[in-house]
This record gives sequence, C-alpha cells and structure tokens, in this order.
Amino acid sequence: MSLFWTFAQFRNGFGSPNFGAFKGTSRWICTMLNAAAADRNKEPILAVLKSRVTSDRHLMALEISSGTGQHVVHFAKAFPNITWQPSEFEAQSISSIEAYRQYHRLQNVKPPIYLDVSQSWENWGGFEVESCDLVVNINMMHISPLACTMGLFNAVGKILKRQGLLLTYGPYAFKGSITPQSNVDFDQSLRYRNPEWGLRDVSFLKKLGQENGLRLEEIVDMPANNQCLLFLKDSVV
Ligand SMILES: C[S@@+](CC[C@H](N)C(=O)[O-])C[C@H]1O[C@@H](n2cnc3c(N)ncnc32)[C@H](O)[C@@H]1O
Repeated sequence: MSLFWTFAQFRNGFGSPNFGAFKGTSRWICTMLNAAAADRNKEPILAVLKSRVTSDRHLMALEISSGTGQHVVHFAKAFPNITWQPSEFEAQSISSIEAYRQYHRLQNVKPPIYLDVSQSWENWGGFEVESCDLVVNINMMHISPLACTMGLFNAVGKILKRQGLLLTYGPYAFKGSITPQSNVDFDQSLRYRNPEWGLRDVSFLKKLGQENGLRLEEIVDMPANNQCLLFLKDSVV
C-alpha cells in the first residue's frame, strides 16, 4: 500500500469529531464539523432528490456552499451513480468537507473546491457550459449577500445541462410576506446581523430563474417552515 493512513477520531468540546490523517511524514488535522440543522434536514431533502432524480445513468452534481460536508456524504451514499463535487467559500468548511470525505471513503465524492458563488461562472473551478446534471444549494441564499443569489442563478443557468435540475432549500418569503412569526423573527435577526442578508422572495427568484433559463417547476413544503425550490433548465442561455 503506497499510502498509509491512520486516523484518530474523537469528539471535542463542541461535539465535532476530529479526523487526524497521516500521509508519509506530513500530518494534518481536519475537523468534521457538525451542524444540527444539517442532521435534521438531510433526510427530508434526500427524499425530494429521490423523487426527482430517478435515472441510474452516471450524472454529475455540484453542491454549492456545502458547509460541514454532512449533506454531500449523505446524498453520495444514496446516489452511487452520481459524482458529487462539493464546494465552499470558507476554509474551515472546506477542511471539514474533506474530513467527511476521507472518513466515509466515498469514491463518488470529489475533493472540495473553493467556490465564491458571487463570482462569475468562469471562476467556478473550471466548470464548462452545460456540464452539470444537478446543482444543490442548501440554506445559503438568506445567509449571504444578494450578490450570492444573483451569482448562483447566473452561473447555474450556464453550467447546468438542458433538463438539469437546481434544488435550493431554505426559508423563503412569498409575495412579500413571511410566515409564520418564527420566520419573521429569523428574517429580522438575519438583517440585524447583516443588512445584506434576509429571506429571499420566491417571486423574485422565479423571475431571476427565468432570466437565466431556469424554470421554477415545483415548490415542496419541508419541515420547520422551509421549502425546496426545484428549477429546471429549459433553454440555452
Ligand atoms: C448556513 S450555512 C449553510 C451550509 C450548508 N449548506 C448547510 O446547509 O449546512 C451558509 C453557507 O453559505 C456559505 N457562503 C457564504 N457566502 C458564500 C459565497 N460568497 N460563496 C459560497 N458560499 C458562501 C457559507 O460559507 C456557509 O457555508
């Protein structure tokens, strides 16, 4: 065996398993971060994906803002025919995704790439026009500046294949109104933390999708007052 891996997994004070890897003489520690929300929502989101992605041919999926890496390993186990490309903006999250990837030894998860979703698609790690079958983006649009939402739709309109699927998940506003009160409070707390954050309106996202060749096909109600938005790429843009 050319590579000799040993690892020690233990829980630190924040409940995050650490994964220490040794390769030759170099050693690094990657922390498998844990997001409680990801543990709760990964199975309901997977159920939506299973209802829509029924082909067993090889497919290419990109996850934007993969966070800890919990989602991508969960989805990759359920879809062995899909090659998953996780991506992140924050260094700590990239490290966590890599720790999950190594721990689960999944052949169909690529090493995470740095991806700033607010940047033009040409800077998205070398993706080509119409190269992805599926793009997944969970709980990002409301916790990032509007430029991230704009960048997401702009780039996905380019890199998604025809009939490819964009799945976004999170809490949304509908026709200018947010319900229930817990989502109103959440929106206010987000805007207080950063005036550029906040729940995005589905009407606005539908229009943004149309401008980029992405048709909002379905809205699926999810637990805890969240929704999955499913956009289909109809046309070349
Ligand atoms: C609430 S976390 C969600 C993470 C993960 N998708 C999940 O559901 O557990 C929001 C994510 O948005 C990412 N993000 C913020 N700005 C970004 C940007 N410019 N490009 C890509 N991701 C960004 C953060 O790094 C963070 O991982």
